[in-house]
Amino acid sequence: MSMRYLFPAAAAASFCGILLFSAQAFSQPPQPPPAVIRPGAVWPDNRGQHIQAHGGGILKYGDTYYWFGEDRGQGLDPAKRYVSCYSSKDLAHWTFRNQVIKLSDPENFGPHWVLERPKVFYNARTKRFVMYMHIDGPAGGRPYGIARVGVATCDIVDGDYRYLRSFRPLGHESRDIGQFVDDDGTAYLIFEDRPFGFRIARLSANYLSVEKQMCLIPAHMEGGALIHYQGLYYVIGSRLSGWAPNPNKYATARRLEGPWSEFRDIAPPETRTYGSQSTMLLKVVGTKKTTVIFMGDIWKPRTQWDSRYLWMPLEIGDGKLWLPEPKPWMLDLATGEVSFP
Ligand code: DGJ
Repeated sequence: MSMRYLFPAAAAASFCGILLFSAQAFSQPPQPPPAVIRPGAVWPDNRGQHIQAHGGGILKYGDTYYWFGEDRGQGLDPAKRYVSCYSSKDLAHWTFRNQVIKLSDPENFGPHWVLERPKVFYNARTKRFVMYMHIDGPAGGRPYGIARVGVATCDIVDGDYRYLRSFRPLGHESRDIGQFVDDDGTAYLIFEDRPFGFRIARLSANYLSVEKQMCLIPAHMEGGALIHYQGLYYVIGSRLSGWAPNPNKYATARRLEGPWSEFRDIAPPETRTYGSQSTMLLKVVGTKKTTVIFMGDIWKPRTQWDSRYLWMPLEIGDGKLWLPEPKPWMLDLATGEVSFP
């Protein structure tokens, strides 16, 4: 067959190809951009505003992650304290849901009252969402002298939470708090008890109070977080240096009651945890891999609204835990696998 006859056939085929390609392009839903997590960068939410969820925690409810944290945004009423809630299906794109707490000094602690490190648990029995937070204020001339936890609840994950009360868990001082839900669903609070150390305690059945101490780790550490990974508990925390970063440490135990190992560095100590402070460890169980994410705050005390987030997948296992040097990364939530752009 001569080219004269071949050419129209080829042209027709390629024309059909273009049509097919265009039809496919129109029938496919638009693909979201790759879910890259960039430690230390500005993290815009769906409105283009830097996420305000400092000292925060994550609750997975259904197939959605909810991130709660201190809203230190500019232009807020300085007499009030705010907690914001964001949602995401991929841990990279976050939608602002609500300022779930907009609270005026609920216990009359005065203008320097404190609400920090909110954490939300879901209680499947009562079907209520229960928020714990560090509530504080000056006492006897000491800032942060009250040292209590506050509790608020809501029937809707991102609704307006109702503040119930504050108390000292099991009668102990409590400043920084962390949340932990074990693989069997039991919920625990981690709290810093300045005179003694670091306590891990189980919540009551309705989560409205703290019921039983599991252990006291006699180390003075803040930003407490805990994870159960391959049969071992790993606890992490920072030293007490105000807003300034310091070398965060970890210890391990087979049971929450201990005995706990010595504390070791999670990163080269001279990096001071790459300028961050722990707030939570999040476990993502995929079909191929279980990934544990270090979630830390890069505090900017003078421009608090601009404080950043350092999230990185940890190297973890066999009693070792290591925070790699931060760089952009991606997580496949289905497989649990991490990759780098
Ligand atoms: C360190 C704590 O981890 C923060 O939550 C905050 O309370 C600062 N101290 C205040 O200096």
